[in-house]
Amino acid sequence: MKEETFDSTSEAFREAKIAVGKLPKKRDQLLPALEIFQQKLHWLPEASIEYVANHLMLPLSEVYSIATGYSELNLLKPTPFKWHVCMGVACDLAGASELITCVDNVEQIDCQFLCALAPVVVDQHEQLYGRVTTDNFQEWVKK
Ligand code: FES
Repeated sequence: MKEETFDSTSEAFREAKIAVGKLPKKRDQLLPALEIFQQKLHWLPEASIEYVANHLMLPLSEVYSIATGYSELNLLKPTPFKWHVCMGVACDLAGASELITCVDNVEQIDCQFLCALAPVVVDQHEQLYGRVTTDNFQEWVKK
């Protein structure tokens, strides 16, 4: 498995290591230890798995088997939220270019066949928004 970039010097990782280090070195602390890393980092990088295995003196395979067995534990780094802005002709003429430049983390998409509502924006849940202005788009992105 290819791991996403992880900063092992981060404050959150340090705090998680301290909290896990205080747990008793018992097998039944495996899930609580992984939950601490999940809560602090929002995912379980390889370094967290190794730390838990070393602290609890368990084989990596056992730690991985628990880490992959619970849906609330995530071995992949969460992807940042992305907005999609339609760059079809109608949306472009209605100001989609301004929407693209007014916020970060935006991806351009093709016509969504809602040209009467241009410019159109789509969120990560595939919810469509029409007649979007730079003001309300910036407001949504902040949330
Ligand atoms: S051009 Fe954007 S919905 Fe058609």
